[in-house]
Amino acid sequence: MEGIKLNQIGVSFKGSGSYVPDQILTNQKISQKVDTSDEWIKSRTGIAERRISSSGDNVTEMGYKAAKTAISMANWDIETIDLIILATSTPHDLFGSAPSIQAKLGANNAVAFDLTAACSGFLFALITASQFLKGGSFKRALVIGADQLSSFVDWNDRRSCILFGDGAGALAIEAISEFDNFIGFDMQTDGERGSFLNLPSKNKMDSIIDNVNFLSGGFSPIQMNGQEVYKFAVREVPLILDKLFRKTNISSDEIDWLVLHQANQRILDSVGERLKISRKKILSNLENYGNTSAATIPLMMDEAIRNNKIKQNDIIATSGFGAGLSWGAALIKWG
Ligand code: ACO
Repeated sequence: MEGIKLNQIGVSFKGSGSYVPDQILTNQKISQKVDTSDEWIKSRTGIAERRISSSGDNVTEMGYKAAKTAISMANWDIETIDLIILATSTPHDLFGSAPSIQAKLGANNAVAFDLTAACSGFLFALITASQFLKGGSFKRALVIGADQLSSFVDWNDRRSCILFGDGAGALAIEAISEFDNFIGFDMQTDGERGSFLNLPSKNKMDSIIDNVNFLSGGFSPIQMNGQEVYKFAVREVPLILDKLFRKTNISSDEIDWLVLHQANQRILDSVGERLKISRKKILSNLENYGNTSAATIPLMMDEAIRNNKIKQNDIIATSGFGAGLSWGAALIKWG
């Protein structure tokens, strides 16, 4: 299928990059901390190991390294980057980490900001950046997904600590007038169901002086109702992708690759079955990295691009989903 021919501005995908910390936490090692087993984790999630940040591997550093390799693939002059969006729920600086990445890159002409939507964050950031490009405001954008959930996991809670890992990924996208490889998107949130997955404020009152109190900063570890999150994902992700296929007049047969947020292999398999997409087309690397939140989609795409799985002009259906609750989907063509 040809990219949509246009008189207006479209989006072209120029580069990808990723980074994961060196430190590996296997299922066997996690079993030394909580009452679990390699067999239980693999059969329920598909995860075998995950990467854990140690000092120096914070979100700014990981995001910077992923961004640098994406820029190098795109062959961009750093000065020509207009926009940097960092999707993260775990910034190194709560005031925003994207400007630090901008400074480390030396991208002096870019505006950089953070965007938070948990595991949907990368997809929401990609959609946001593409709208800036299509609207004519900016020409070159870096979209980064990076998270360090290891800092916010309760390492005594076996129901959640087995799932998460740290990492970063990035895509370099560009405005172009000849075609549009950002075929379509959809996004949704439902705060009513938000309590299924939270990384909440500690909600601890402290006092400044007598009779003047304040809510002290800091967060409680991740709280998750795994079964409800699972049910949400296997219901909503096929629905939003199916709606997008109809809206764009593209059938699921025409998809070359399905790149879902890497939360659980059973979720990936179930979504594929519901959409009748062959297993061969469903990309998965969660065995090695677990759920890296905003990083999973670009981390997966970068691996598949570098392994020559995703090739120029391949059609990719992608979907992110998670806390909020939030979920979204996009149809893109690589190149
Ligand atoms: N090891 C051994 N046993 C365990 C473990 C573990 N790590 N975790 C739970 N169990 C036990 C439970 O205690 C329970 O035992 P019980 O029956 O004696 O009470 C039993 O296993 C079954 O527990 P369930 O919670 O029903 O297990 P389930 O099959 O639902 O699997 C899981 C749990 C893997 C968490 C699954 O629900 C899931 O993947 N949900 C989606 C979670 C997710 O993807 N979250 C991230 C979303 S993205 C984001 O925004 C961050």
